[in-house]
Amino acid sequence: MSELSLRRMTLDDLADVMAIQTGAFSNPWTPDMVKKELSQDWSTVLLAERPGEGRPKVLGFVVFWLVHDEVHLLNVAVHPDARRQGIGRALMDAVVAHGRRHRCLTVTLEVRRSNAPAQALYDRFGFRRVGLRPAYYGDNREDAVIMTADLGAPGA
Ligand SMILES: CC(C)(COP(=O)(O)OP(=O)(O)OC[C@H]1O[C@@H](n2cnc3c(N)ncnc32)[C@H](O)[C@@H]1OP(=O)(O)O)[C@@H](O)C(=O)NCCC(=O)NCCS
Repeated sequence: MSELSLRRMTLDDLADVMAIQTGAFSNPWTPDMVKKELSQDWSTVLLAERPGEGRPKVLGFVVFWLVHDEVHLLNVAVHPDARRQGIGRALMDAVVAHGRRHRCLTVTLEVRRSNAPAQALYDRFGFRRVGLRPAYYGDNREDAVIMTADLGAPGA
């Protein structure tokens, strides 16, 4: 399989990112929500792509904020046809590396209680379940599990 590369998202990538969003989430972000992330200094949107016949194909993305000494992960998704190929792991590796470069101490995120694949990915990165936000998700009032990883710890 050809090599994966990561880069920052630009406005030209909006359609590709929206296609992944709508394939991945029951209540996807709107284009305006994604665009807003591109304009905020504290936000980073990274894309994972592979060379194709024409331009490289965007296969996944991650959105995270740097807030003081913490990375807050807002959104991560991989195209349904490209899952279980290590793309989620590559995106998470990049988040952790970015946090370490900026001397962050922790990465924090919220994940649906029922989202076993995402929680399995976060477990691989040493995330711990540290709390619950009851009925956090508006569409079905599902609880959010709060997960945190220490960037100083080995395996984080
Ligand atoms: C969660 C998600 C991003 C994982 O992306 P991915 O590219 O398939 O993940 P990877 O291939 O890098 O998997 C890395 C590890 O995570 C775990 N994992 C990932 N998907 C899993 C699944 N469906 N079941 C069990 N474990 C899983 C495994 O430990 C896996 O390692 P392995 O393949 O060697 O067993 C992807 O399933 C996705 O886009 N889901 C929909 C969007 C979403 O729920 N995002 C999270 C919002 S909080």
